[in-house]
Amino acid sequence: MPPDLSKCHDAKAPALHDHCCPPYDPSETISEYGFPATPLRVRRPAHLVKDDQEYLDKYKEAVRRMKNLPAEHPWNYYQQANIHCQYCNDAYYQQNTDDVPVQVHFSWIFLPWHRYYLHFYERILGKLIDDDTFTIPFWNWDTKEGMTFPAIFQDASSPLYDPKRDQRHVKDGAILDLKYAYTDNPASDSEIIRENLCFIQKTFKYSLSLAELFMGDPVRAGEKEIQEANGQLEVIHNAAHMWVGEPDGYKEDMGDFSTAARDSVFYCHHSNVDRMWDIYRNLRGNQVEFEDKDWLDSTFLFHDENEQLVKVKASQMLSPIYTHPCKCKRNVVYTTVVYCADRGLPQPDQASVHVRASSSPMVGQNQLPEDGRDEVQGHDGAVADARRRIRDDAPGTRREQPAAGDRGKAEEEPQEEGEAREGGGDSDQGY
Ligand code: C2O
Repeated sequence: MPPDLSKCHDAKAPALHDHCCPPYDPSETISEYGFPATPLRVRRPAHLVKDDQEYLDKYKEAVRRMKNLPAEHPWNYYQQANIHCQYCNDAYYQQNTDDVPVQVHFSWIFLPWHRYYLHFYERILGKLIDDDTFTIPFWNWDTKEGMTFPAIFQDASSPLYDPKRDQRHVKDGAILDLKYAYTDNPASDSEIIRENLCFIQKTFKYSLSLAELFMGDPVRAGEKEIQEANGQLEVIHNAAHMWVGEPDGYKEDMGDFSTAARDSVFYCHHSNVDRMWDIYRNLRGNQVEFEDKDWLDSTFLFHDENEQLVKVKASQMLSPIYTHPCKCKRNVVYTTVVYCADRGLPQPDQASVHVRASSSPMVGQNQLPEDGRDEVQGHDGAVADARRRIRDDAPGTRREQPAAGDRGKAEEEPQEEGEAREGGGDSDQGY
């Protein structure tokens, strides 16, 4: 259900005066996208690239060039950012409807659409500096070392800088609260870190056999989104958006769909969201999340790194083609990208902790037991139930619940890093 590009209209985006339509060229043709046979690219954690001056210079130069492109160029930095507004703030109606907006959040579309958005963005940046290995870094907020705002985006003289942020959070090493919803968590830093790790663990634990819980519920052509239908990964990711954006006004940039991608940290944040998805897939032995055609055939349009308007499907981005022989501590792989952390550094994938920590057979192995799916009695009921269990201390409810409610559930306590590292398997797939 790609939009009809000829029918972009005013968006519900007051922060942008409701305008975010791209320039439209009726003579432009849409081609099928073929994945380029270039080498797998390695994405690295933002907190570990901060001393890699050569890389940072490239990254900044690429973004600078993107910002300097003519305003109407489809690769222009703000045109790229507007794509997010078009697909999130009602700038298009779905084909064959005149009032159902195209919306890439709140459903199973969330992860595949954003994966493509990053894919093209990254390749365009690479093209601008003539580097076909270029990658955007990931904001490694699932590990203690990555739970502050990445320093590489803080330099006010850099093209990666954005003044429209909540300065209380992005400066001075404040700890990101993955349940943030515009109320600061009074807990100590170490307690917030513990809560974050717990939240991620529970998300993986309860959603391993329930793809909709992790990814979002189905939405089909002609249907309006249901905001409560978002997956838990999206819920977690929302907190970082709110935490980075300004606390007032339209919550620019990161806190509002229409402006979020105007902050370079957006792509860094989503790079980790995408990595979380790949970790999830790996845990499930890479079995497809939804065999449903409506998901697999979901179709999106983008301008690729050759300025060609292309059509892509969710299913094209799913197959892991080969593992990367790099010297990574852990890595996960899909069609074009590998995520990597340097060997010897703290295990970034705290989410995997539950694999060891839980006594549940469902998550005791690298993949689901053969009968994993059948164990769930009443699928919808199981999703709702698990959603509740993860959210019992989710945003908006936690403040009312004494933290003590969490205690005593030993299996949900994050393990110490040292323990988490052991026995996790040293295979390249990592899980
Ligand atoms: Cu399209 Cu992080 O949102």
